Amino acid sequence: MKFRELGLSEDLLKAIEEKGFKEATPIQAETIPLTLKGEDVLGQAQTGTGKTAAFALPIIEHIDLENPNVQALVISPTRELAIQTQSEISRFGKNKGVNTTAVYGGSDIRRQIKDLKRHPQVVVGTPGRLLDHINRRTLKLANVKTLVLDEADDMLDMGFLEDIENIIKQVPEERQTLLFSATMPPSIKRVGVQFMKDPKQVKIKAKELTTDLIDQYYIRVKQFEKFDVMTRFFDIQAPKVTIVFCRTKRRVDEVSKGLLLRGYRAAGLHGDLTQNRRSQIMREFKNDKIDVLVATDVAARGIDVSGVTHVYNYDIPQDSESYVHRIGRTGRAGNHGVSMTFVEPNETSYLRDIEKLTKVRMLPLKPPSADEALKGQLKAATKQIDSLIKKTKVEKFADTADQLLEEYDAKDLVSVLLSKMTRNQVKVHISSERPLPSRNKHHRGGGFHRGGGHHGGGRHGNFRRNNNHRNGGGFNHGGKRRNGGNNHHNDNHSSKRRPNKSFTIKNKD
Ligand SMILES: Nc1ncnc2c1ncn2[C@@H]1O[C@H](COP(=O)(O)OP(=O)(O)OP(=O)(O)O)[C@@H](O)[C@H]1O
Ligand SMILES: [Mg+2]
Repeated sequence: MKFRELGLSEDLLKAIEEKGFKEATPIQAETIPLTLKGEDVLGQAQTGTGKTAAFALPIIEHIDLENPNVQALVISPTRELAIQTQSEISRFGKNKGVNTTAVYGGSDIRRQIKDLKRHPQVVVGTPGRLLDHINRRTLKLANVKTLVLDEADDMLDMGFLEDIENIIKQVPEERQTLLFSATMPPSIKRVGVQFMKDPKQVKIKAKELTTDLIDQYYIRVKQFEKFDVMTRFFDIQAPKVTIVFCRTKRRVDEVSKGLLLRGYRAAGLHGDLTQNRRSQIMREFKNDKIDVLVATDVAARGIDVSGVTHVYNYDIPQDSESYVHRIGRTGRAGNHGVSMTFVEPNETSYLRDIEKLTKVRMLPLKPPSADEALKGQLKAATKQIDSLIKKTKVEKFADTADQLLEEYDAKDLVSVLLSKMTRNQVKVHISSERPLPSRNKHHRGGGFHRGGGHHGGGRHGNFRRNNNHRNGGGFNHGGKRRNGGNNHHNDNHSSKRRPNKSFTIKNKD
């Protein structure tokens, strides 16, 4: 559907055009008219399908430029997402002249206070820092007309709920409330609707919770083998832009260091780093200075980095919803992606629970052998030689080359070159982490027949699709772009503190 048919003003249509969006995505087409009418909306649609613009555009449309107060408040679970969302909203509001700001932890509060004094009409923030400003009376929410909970199920989960309730107390009862997420467990939806008035629920019908643009694989592997298996897959798949999710901060540190040792351009991201460092890493990842981002769940939700080709779950997530969000960092805006999930021997029940939620059967892959990995490397080296020959001024080296050819066998010379060009397998030790507790063996049906265990389906190097219909979810492929810098906040975030979990995970973000 065309944006023009949704009732948006010329200012916004121009901003949308400048951004390169041609057609509205289904969630945008269905929610924008409702939101413009002032309805409360609970919107659920797959990752990467444009939920941000679905709430950002009506927010901008509703801003009264004569009114200097905060008129819209967007709450995000992480610092990085708050920064990203503010940048997106500000871009849409530029033509109209709407003033926006982001407040989040780990960054200078005095600067934020200054920004808040400049009368932003839209504020995006993480819960902790928002409450901090509320308590300091540097943020007044008495004139808020629209409240958005992005990643709403995360925000209404146990870890955040109290903070959210305290923030909502500061917002007038007479308001519009918008909840968006790719996942919405029924128990959390019940909590959410209590904050809403006669909410209109828009759930974009999809057979599966995850987008069919992502080919989903799993690999059975023992904990101590994971690192070598992963880099062997890297050799074979030659992934371009990759995110590797790990369960703990220590593991993020070790895996990212190990990847650096093996010659990959990698960096780790988690809640113990300073905000400056986190922002720097996200910037470098977006600007192609880093190929592999190793992260905790801090990067699982909402983060939109264009061109992520692969997501690796080095550690399987403990929450099935988290899986949906993690792998949703690829396969965005109509692009194709691949996800790879490592499953340790006692983690089969987690795999089943994920599949039960997503209604997608992941395909098994066998860990590649060292030989297969070397073949992958040599294939890449051959390609590189081809392009090097094209751009090297060979005449300059001709005399020495002749000398060498007289002295040595040509085959030996090329072999030396190839050996230099293939990655040296530095030994890397990754500390073992406590395994996830085994779950009760009751696998509530599920309904999947897993053909042939881990020998059955696709094989490495020759990926088979788990879906052959992929329609791009209503996207115009030309419209994709990268947007502004970002990472997370709220160090209480993620690895959820749900009361029904009988264990805790070390090193939470
Ligand atoms: N109508 C459109 N046409 C083309 N591209 C779009 C359109 N709407 C959004 N996009 C782009 O698609 C990408 C994903 O959008 P967005 O981050 O809003 O997804 P999301 O649904 O919020 O995903 P998540 O559930 O992961 O938060 C962004 O790069 C965005 O700029
Ligand atoms: Mg989003």
